[in-house]
Amino acid sequence: MVDPLRVLVIGSGGREHALSLALSRDPAVVELHAAPGNPGSAALGTNHAIDPLDGAVVANLATRLGVNLVVVGPEAPLVAGVADVVRERGIACFGPSAAAAQLEGSKAFAKQVMAAAGVPTARSRECVTHDQVEQALSEFGAPFVVKDDGLAAGKGVVVTNDRRSAVDHALRCRRVVIEEFLDGPEVSLFGITDGHTVRPLQPAQDFKRVGDGDTGPNTGGMGAYTPLPWAPDDLAEEVTRTVLQPTIDEMARRGTPFSGLLYAGLALTADGVRVVEFNARFGDPETQPLLARLVTPLGGLLYAAATGELAAQPELEWGSGAAVAVVLAAQGYPGTPRTGGVITGLDAATSNGSVIIHAGTTVDAQGHLISAGGRVLAVVGLGDDIEEARGRAYTSIGEIQLDGSFYRRDIAAAAARLVVS
Ligand code: AMP
Ligand code: GLY
Repeated sequence: MVDPLRVLVIGSGGREHALSLALSRDPAVVELHAAPGNPGSAALGTNHAIDPLDGAVVANLATRLGVNLVVVGPEAPLVAGVADVVRERGIACFGPSAAAAQLEGSKAFAKQVMAAAGVPTARSRECVTHDQVEQALSEFGAPFVVKDDGLAAGKGVVVTNDRRSAVDHALRCRRVVIEEFLDGPEVSLFGITDGHTVRPLQPAQDFKRVGDGDTGPNTGGMGAYTPLPWAPDDLAEEVTRTVLQPTIDEMARRGTPFSGLLYAGLALTADGVRVVEFNARFGDPETQPLLARLVTPLGGLLYAAATGELAAQPELEWGSGAAVAVVLAAQGYPGTPRTGGVITGLDAATSNGSVIIHAGTTVDAQGHLISAGGRVLAVVGLGDDIEEARGRAYTSIGEIQLDGSFYRRDIAAAAARLVVS
């Protein structure tokens, strides 16, 4: 028997709404709070307008509310040490310490850990000076891959055949990692861990570029789907063995165990699986379709991870069928988005069972739902297979009106065709 869980979710994006929604389906979760939250989480519990980056403020709120589990969604509060402060108050917290979140906070640190753990990844160089940059670009050749060492909301990586753009990006950053180009489909594989035991989620795929056919700049992610009908059946098991567990063991060995969600961004290359990046939190938007299919009650699972009891948890259980999320973005995204536009059509959009996940939305003084960010919302379509889920997601998003907004038309298109043929 799981004790009744009173949960506070930190963050305000689509990932946090998706987490709150899945938590609300867990019968053990008797109370749900979000800080700062968004209109999606407001419909499921209580929002609290606080600064999510201030550990003391978050811990004070958690104490005042009497919650017994805090779930930290985004990377910025994790890197800022919010989970550490919450745990110091004796409250269970799902999310790594500041030290462990460096796996996402510093690309150079992640590379060092992977090297020590024998985890397969792209060959790379850390560069600070112009000379080092030129040397590394020559060593690896085109396409050039230049990564800002620090957090950059999914926009710090430039992949280009143009050497001058590669150099320009490198010189704009204080320190960069330059690495070999990895050729092959990308997969997101998430592991829930208590610092020792890890439970992989099913693989998902994200669409990072803003435009159809993977064109234009990188974004936080324009859509995602799961499962991957084209991927090897044992992918999650292989990645757990070769990537997740060795990384978790190495972090524990260093005295900075990683508990929370370890996100492996992978390229399936001709030479095998390679890590493209680690993140220290659930992916956005992959979490939206993943949690739509997770049958295992999420609250108990995250509580077990937060309290070091994951080994006692059964394997995760998944629904049959597929889920496809398509992101509705505001005009201008991933540059400065236009905000304040009225959003309509959500009732029609959900009439076929699709789910709306709020991200950059808010409610104005007149009670209208308006846009407030670059990625405004995601529509999650569900179905027996990718094609059906995809059809429903696109039917639904077609019902939504927001001036100037756009979405990619090819999310999960190749995967859907694969299943049909
Ligand atoms: P990251 O923030 O490291 O995930 O990089 C963002 C995106 O850039 C990835 O999802 C890939 O599409 C691309 N990328 C990053 N590193 C590489 C690489 N070594 N080879 C090819 N593409 C890459
Ligand atoms: N979907 C990519 C990310 O969450 O970083």
